Amino acid sequence: QTVYLKDYTPPDYLIDQVELVFELDEQRTLVRAGLDVRRNPDSRSASEALTLFGEELLLVGISLDGQALAAGDYTLSDEALTIHRVPGDRPFRIDIENIIDPQANTALEGLYLSSSMLCTQCEAQGFRKITWFLDRPDVMSRFTTKLIADKTQYPVLLSNGNKIGAGNLDGGRHWVAWQDPFAKPCYLFALVAGQLEYVADEFTTVSGRRIALEIFVEAHNVDKCGHAMQSLKNAMRWDEETYGLEYDLDLYMIVAVDHFNMGAMENKGLNVFNTKFVLARPDTATDSDYEHIEGVIGHEYFHNWSGNRVTCRDWFQLSLKEGFTVFRDQQFSGDRSSPAVKRIEDVNMLRTRQFAEDAGPLAHPIRPEAYIEINNFYTLTVYEKGAEVVRMLHTLLGAAGFRQGCDLYFKRHDGQAVTCEDFVKAMEDANGVELTQFRRWYSQAGTPVLEVEQAFDAGRLTLTVKQSCPPTPNQPEKLPLHVPIKLGFLAADGSPARFQYRGEFCEEATVSLTEAEQRFVFESLTEKPIVSLLRGFSAPVTLKIDRDPEELAFLLSYDSDTFNRWEAGQQLVSRIIFGLIADIQAGRTLTANPVLTEAFRAILADAGADLSYRALLLSLPDEGYLGGQMAVVDVEAIHQAREFVRLSLATALSAEFQRVYAEHHQDESGCFDASAVGRRRLKNACLSYLTALEKPDSYALAETQFRSARNMTDQIAALSAVVNSRNPTKADCLDSFYRQWQREALVVDKWFTLQATCHMPETFATVQSLMQHPAFDMKTPNRVRSLVGAFSQSNPLHFHARNGDGYRFLADRVIELNTLNPQIAARMVGGFAQWRRYDTDRQALMTRELRRIVETEHLSKDVYEIASKSLA
Ligand code: ARG
Ligand code: ZN
Repeated sequence: QTVYLKDYTPPDYLIDQVELVFELDEQRTLVRAGLDVRRNPDSRSASEALTLFGEELLLVGISLDGQALAAGDYTLSDEALTIHRVPGDRPFRIDIENIIDPQANTALEGLYLSSSMLCTQCEAQGFRKITWFLDRPDVMSRFTTKLIADKTQYPVLLSNGNKIGAGNLDGGRHWVAWQDPFAKPCYLFALVAGQLEYVADEFTTVSGRRIALEIFVEAHNVDKCGHAMQSLKNAMRWDEETYGLEYDLDLYMIVAVDHFNMGAMENKGLNVFNTKFVLARPDTATDSDYEHIEGVIGHEYFHNWSGNRVTCRDWFQLSLKEGFTVFRDQQFSGDRSSPAVKRIEDVNMLRTRQFAEDAGPLAHPIRPEAYIEINNFYTLTVYEKGAEVVRMLHTLLGAAGFRQGCDLYFKRHDGQAVTCEDFVKAMEDANGVELTQFRRWYSQAGTPVLEVEQAFDAGRLTLTVKQSCPPTPNQPEKLPLHVPIKLGFLAADGSPARFQYRGEFCEEATVSLTEAEQRFVFESLTEKPIVSLLRGFSAPVTLKIDRDPEELAFLLSYDSDTFNRWEAGQQLVSRIIFGLIADIQAGRTLTANPVLTEAFRAILADAGADLSYRALLLSLPDEGYLGGQMAVVDVEAIHQAREFVRLSLATALSAEFQRVYAEHHQDESGCFDASAVGRRRLKNACLSYLTALEKPDSYALAETQFRSARNMTDQIAALSAVVNSRNPTKADCLDSFYRQWQREALVVDKWFTLQATCHMPETFATVQSLMQHPAFDMKTPNRVRSLVGAFSQSNPLHFHARNGDGYRFLADRVIELNTLNPQIAARMVGGFAQWRRYDTDRQALMTRELRRIVETEHLSKDVYEIASKSLA
């Protein structure tokens, strides 16, 4: 049941037009589909049969050119309907009638019920759960959709494109018809029906067209759409200004639904969103939520070109649209806030989570070669590493060259379903360059390692760079990649040192590493400089270079590259933490490091820097990221060492943390602007350090902030401080938070997550009792992620408890979810994927649970693929 990229063949038939009619009902929706089919001139097969995909459908009737087919004319299986003979020499019409049950659809793929509204999710292969179809992205059709439903229960009826008619019917029913003028693959089809309110606005495009913008939500959420709407307008303007891309329909609709497997979906003209990425009010959403909303609204909007107008030939090409669109949304978010801060956040996420994926049993190239279940390949690799690969093209070609490549790509392929190869080719052709070696980034998995050695002699610095890449599943040997390395040098006083590279004088350069080992020579330096390599994280690699703590502290003070300045701090802290881990493992007593204390004192005293950036400089590397750098992950020692650093910094600098806290603390209702966000970030970072002191003063500080907060950022930060300490008011604060917010599902999610990620000893018991909480629901993905996902993926200390309780807990949840929602179940299995990185006792415990999962009856493809590949 594995599908291979190498087996791709063009479709035998094409469907030019689709006419859909839905008679909507919670349990018995009737679907009529009229398909205008013709043989594909590019077909390579001689078969006279037409096979349409379809799953979990009840067939009512089927006809060909108006003639009802008899049972002997076709074959039905669990996954397809094959009509034995269709005309090969002329277009023909297929009419299908079938019934589906949205209420029974807890997998949330196809047509399903979310609260009281009906909605769809078709990417990747959900359309086949609506009706039989050529459900593959290289079949592009023009859709008209007529929705019929009870007018009271479903007053709002939406689908893609423009509304072309509406009317009343007998029996209290009504209908609305929609037409999408753009041909599209069926994965971009959507419909929504329900009692929805909407917020309306408009946008005038650069060429003067007026676009109606509408965000649909349940009535109690209309007051939380303002930020999403503003974000949409910002994204529309940004794409015009940055890529010269304009919106193409007269209407852009967004619907927010409570039950959604992923973040959001770019259906043509009718995006469906997880409420988490739409709804925000300062008292219910944090500053990070505001940022994520803007990012995801941008992402789905940008798909209108990178994904919809130019789509994917097959699902192996997923990164063609996702990597590119993530890159675009990263650029957008950076431009909207602070490019420096955004870059650090993105790299941090990539290195903490994608690097782990790339180093484990599920590693795959950004263009995978095989899959069992495509939904399992909506991964950090395809999305985030895919974005890094696009970013490297941007770095290598420069902003203008990259833009020319994009222009050519969109012009050449508008209306087509294409491949990653087509994208790279457009970049080459527009720039007159050759990217043959660069293409290996699409086919090779694993995180490359760069080892750098330096030699300085008479004004000349020689860097010797070696690249290698560890083996990954099915890829034992790797070829050298084309790696852009952006670099600069610092003089002894911290100022940029000028140098000559290939005859040109510069302060910064991007060099291309293409060999397994390569030498780079920089001349005209007056003294031996401190090198700053891989600036802006110019390639998704691990960099190894010998540096002492003083050199790291120097870079942390002076590097003009904001990414590398932060990175130097992270390296410094990591190195200290690894020293402490060694001490813990050897039973030595721990001592604080004065170099780090002084570096942090300087950051706290530096009144100049951007406050959000300063908060990042004060952040300690994540426990998961630290674990990723150990041969055998020692969860307890990592936690203990990291907490020791937090406590020693808090102890040595308590006056500074208090001063900075007081300087930036304001009782505010929480407006979302860069300076207010920065203030809150920095202040709450200080609060977190002060909490480590476990002193009455810091308890009071956290409790006071919690009780008086008028915005969610401050409220949840304070609650986190309370919960992650021995604060005596903990139970009371948690309780009052729940009572205050029990009607706001997204805030209740935060309440679950906070407890699931707590590092205090009682956490596992709390998680188990939260499973019994009336607000917990296995059928709501956000809730499952907020408790089960948060515990297993963001609480290494307790999830990896030596006794195996965390593992058994997760496997039990996976088995329950397997029948309810295979996609979410498969995501949860991910918690076990890194089992090889732990000690033998834990390995045995984790593999036992993985085997228990694999042996479960009626195992979904989704779970089977992740669990079995994890064990392999
Ligand atoms: N294309 C969507 C996005 O990234 C993701 C939808 C994926 N859904 C899924 N079930 N695999 O914006
Ligand atoms: Zn996307």
